[in-house]
Amino acid sequence: MTVSETQSLRKTDFPADFAWGTATAAYQIEGAVAEDGRSPSIWDTFSHTPGKVKAGENGDVACDHYHRWEEDLGLMRALGLNAYRFSVAWPRVVPGGRGEVNARGLDFYDRLTDGLLARGVDPYVTLYHWDLPQVLQDAGGWANRNTAYAFAEYADAVAGRLGDRVRGWITHNEPWCAAFLGNVVGIHAPGGQDLATGLLASHHLLLSHGLAVERVRARVPDARVGITLILGPQQPATDRPEDVAAARRGDGFLNRWFLDPVYGRGYPADMLDLYRPHAPAFEEAIQPGDLETIAARTDFLGVNYYQRSVVEHAPGERGLMDTRQLRPEGEYTAFDWEVYPDGLREILVRVHQDYAPPVLYVTENGAAYDDRPTPDGQIHDEARRRYIERHLAACRDAIRAGVPLKGYFAWSLLDNFEWAEGYSKRFGLVRVDYGTGRRTVKASGEWYGRLARGEEG
Ligand code: FCB
Repeated sequence: MTVSETQSLRKTDFPADFAWGTATAAYQIEGAVAEDGRSPSIWDTFSHTPGKVKAGENGDVACDHYHRWEEDLGLMRALGLNAYRFSVAWPRVVPGGRGEVNARGLDFYDRLTDGLLARGVDPYVTLYHWDLPQVLQDAGGWANRNTAYAFAEYADAVAGRLGDRVRGWITHNEPWCAAFLGNVVGIHAPGGQDLATGLLASHHLLLSHGLAVERVRARVPDARVGITLILGPQQPATDRPEDVAAARRGDGFLNRWFLDPVYGRGYPADMLDLYRPHAPAFEEAIQPGDLETIAARTDFLGVNYYQRSVVEHAPGERGLMDTRQLRPEGEYTAFDWEVYPDGLREILVRVHQDYAPPVLYVTENGAAYDDRPTPDGQIHDEARRRYIERHLAACRDAIRAGVPLKGYFAWSLLDNFEWAEGYSKRFGLVRVDYGTGRRTVKASGEWYGRLARGEEG
C-alpha cells in the first residue's frame, strides 16, 4: 500500500470538472436482442454456441436495461453521478451491417441521451463494445478491411442522430480484446484461433477508429473524440535481461501495439519483427495512408485498468511470446485478478510521459466479488468499496504527478453479463437480481455516490 492510499479521499482532490461516472456496454446489459429491428451480433452467435460461455448463459435478457433504462438512469441521479459511459449496439442501428439505418434502433439511444441530460448526467458514447453484426462476421469480420468502412458509416449515423447532444465520443473499447481474445485466444466472439487473423483485425479496428474520428468530427464540430484501450504495466519478475525482454514483449503486445499507431508512431518495430514469421502478409495489409488515418488527432485517451502483469522468460509458453505470467502473492478478486492499485498510477503516468494525450479518463476500473446479500437484501461489499477507493487514490496520485486525468468511470453501474463468464462475475455498484430484475444499490455504490456528491472525507 502506498503512503497516499492511507489518506482519505475527498472530492476536492480531483479537478472541479471531474467526471464521476460508471460504465456499461450494450450487450452486457440491454437484453431485447430481437426487438425493434436488431439483428444478431457475434456475441449472440457465440453465447448460443454450446461450450463458449460459462453455464451456457447469454445476453438475451441480461439486465433488461432496454426496458428498464429509466429506472437505471434514476439510480445514477440518486447517487449524484455526473457522467455515464454506455455503448451503442451496431446491430440495432445498422442491422444489415452496412446500408440502411434503422431509426427504431437509434430511437432507444436518443431517449437514453435525453434522459441522461435531463438528470444532469453527461453521456459518453462508445461506438463499439464488441457486438459486431453477425452478417459482417460472415463476410470475414474485422479481418476484412470493408468492416472498417462499414464502421465509419455506422459511426456517421450515430453521430448524425446524437451529435447535437453528445460531446463525449469513444470509437472503440479495448481493441486488444476484440482482436486478440476474439481471434487468437478464442475465448471471446467470434472465437477464432489464428494470429494472422487477429493481427489483421487489430489493424482494421485501428483503421476504423481513425475513419470514425473524422466522421464524428465532421458531424459534431465540438465533439471530444477518443479511444479506450486496456492497458497495464508489464513488470519483469527479476532484472535478468531475458525477463526484462519478456516484459517488453508483453508491453508491446498489450500496450504499444495500440498506443504507438494511435499516437503517430506506426506499429512497434520489435513486435513487427516478432510477428513477421508467423503472419508474413500482415504488413502488406497496411495500405498507404492507413497509419496517418489511425493517427487522427484525438481529444483524450480512455484507459481501462484492471491489473498488472508480472512476467518471466519461458521458452515455448504463450506461443511466440515465450513468457510466463506469474501469480504474485497478494490480494485477488473473484475473477482471480490481482488487486494492484499502484499499477493504475504507473500506467497513467507512463502514458502521460510517453504519449502525452491532452486529457485522460479512466473509462473502466472495478472488481468482481462474490456478493452475499444479507437477509434483508443489502450488500455490504466492503472489498469492492476498498478496491475503488484505492484505485481512486492512485488516480489522485497520478493527478498530483501532473497527469491531466479528467474522469473515472467505475465498471460497472450494474451487475451484468460478463462475456465468457456469463452472470457468474458481479462487477456492479448496483446488484441485479436476475430472476426479478430488481436493482439494489450496494454499499460500494452508496459510498461512491457520497464521494461524487462531495459528502465524503
Ligand atoms: C473489460 C470490458 C468490460 C468488462 C470488464 C470486466 O475488459 O471492457 O466489458 O467485461 O472488462
